[in-house]
Amino acid sequence: MNIMVVGGGGREHAIIKKLRENPEITAIYCLPGNGGIAADAECVPIASTDIEAIAGFAGSHSIDFAVVAQDDPLALGCVDRLHALGIPCFGPEAKAARIESSKVFAKELMKKYGIPTADYAAFSAPEEALNYLAGARYPLVVKADGLALGKGVLICPDEAAARAAIEEIMTRRAFGDAGNQVVIERFLTGPEVSVLAFTDGKTLYPMVSSMDHKRAGDGDTGLNTGGMGTVAPNPCYTGDIAQECMEKIFLPTIRAMEQEGCPFRGCLYFGLMLTAEGPKVIEYNCRFGDPETQVVLPLLKTDLLTIMRAVESETLSQLHVEWHSGAAACVILASGGYPLAYEKGKTITLPASLPKNVTIYHAGDRLENGALVTSGGRVLGVSAVGETLREALDSAYAAAREIHFEGAFCRSDIGQRALAAIEG
Ligand code: AMP
Ligand code: GLY
Repeated sequence: MNIMVVGGGGREHAIIKKLRENPEITAIYCLPGNGGIAADAECVPIASTDIEAIAGFAGSHSIDFAVVAQDDPLALGCVDRLHALGIPCFGPEAKAARIESSKVFAKELMKKYGIPTADYAAFSAPEEALNYLAGARYPLVVKADGLALGKGVLICPDEAAARAAIEEIMTRRAFGDAGNQVVIERFLTGPEVSVLAFTDGKTLYPMVSSMDHKRAGDGDTGLNTGGMGTVAPNPCYTGDIAQECMEKIFLPTIRAMEQEGCPFRGCLYFGLMLTAEGPKVIEYNCRFGDPETQVVLPLLKTDLLTIMRAVESETLSQLHVEWHSGAAACVILASGGYPLAYEKGKTITLPASLPKNVTIYHAGDRLENGALVTSGGRVLGVSAVGETLREALDSAYAAAREIHFEGAFCRSDIGQRALAAIEG
């Protein structure tokens, strides 16, 4: 079988490594991939947003199955285009991808179907949004409607900050068309949990829960990033909470999408906050999380391609999805300066060998004369599995210490909150 994966970060590397466990797969192409992915797949220099070029490649390379892993191509209708060519895919069509690509769509869906989330108001005119601020309670959260590389969410302690946020998004258009509308919502508090789920639109199987660490600095300080590390499972996510989420959030969401005429097939990501009033949805993503995937997929026992094909053929209910016990941790090694400006092209030195429980997922590097050099902010995800979270963390950090490039940094406290919750 020939497989095509669209995307080129750590998440795609984790998907590819997992897919390779299936002996039926003869070739995996990654568009565009990256320097490290090139060791596990044939990387093709086609941008993940160039839908016509992706379709052309798929048509001329006898692709039997495609995995569209990244948010932009999903929102741009990559799956719709491939379906039109008769190519089975894992990933939602564009109208279902709106659950991530439009926060207004997602909020309206939750309101209409009674799915717990923060109270909100949506605006398409900056004056109306600014007028609303005078009578609002603070802190509140201002969100650009569209995709903004994870930077379109601004937590505002007071009215002045909220005004500045609306001006940045709607008037200065810092995120382009993604700021045509804004959502202003109540600030919630509580532990955050990421739950990724396989769904074919009718059946939904949650994956092992996880915890992201979004801030750049130790102790959750500094700027927001794409994620500096993850652990799985998330100890805050108890069996009781999981059941409540299934009944009040997960199943109602896929039923709502079906009722709205946009059934969701693929990986649906629930960003949850466990508030004093119960679990609430902070955000939906229409794809695997990054770096959540780098801790969730290593714990998957069932063959990934088999699950993906069952999602596409809407036969997920006939499948039993199994997970390994134990835990996983991923520590991100980033370029000095990230998430602000950073230099690229630094030579990466990797350890000659790795313990069996450790995997390095490449996120932001490229090959230059056969050597790996940095090409992004988040460069590598060092993942490890273990019987316990402590074991996984120790292995991931030990391996991370053996990796070198100029300016490299990582958070030193990934998993500490989770450990405190487990070990007391
Ligand atoms: P998002 O890009 O939607 O995941 O938001 C980024 C981060 O902002 C989330 O992981 C939360 O930590 C925070 N956030 C978003 N919405 C809220 C909210 N209503 N209340 C508190 N924090 C929020
Ligand atoms: N780690 C958060 C995301 O993938 O959006």
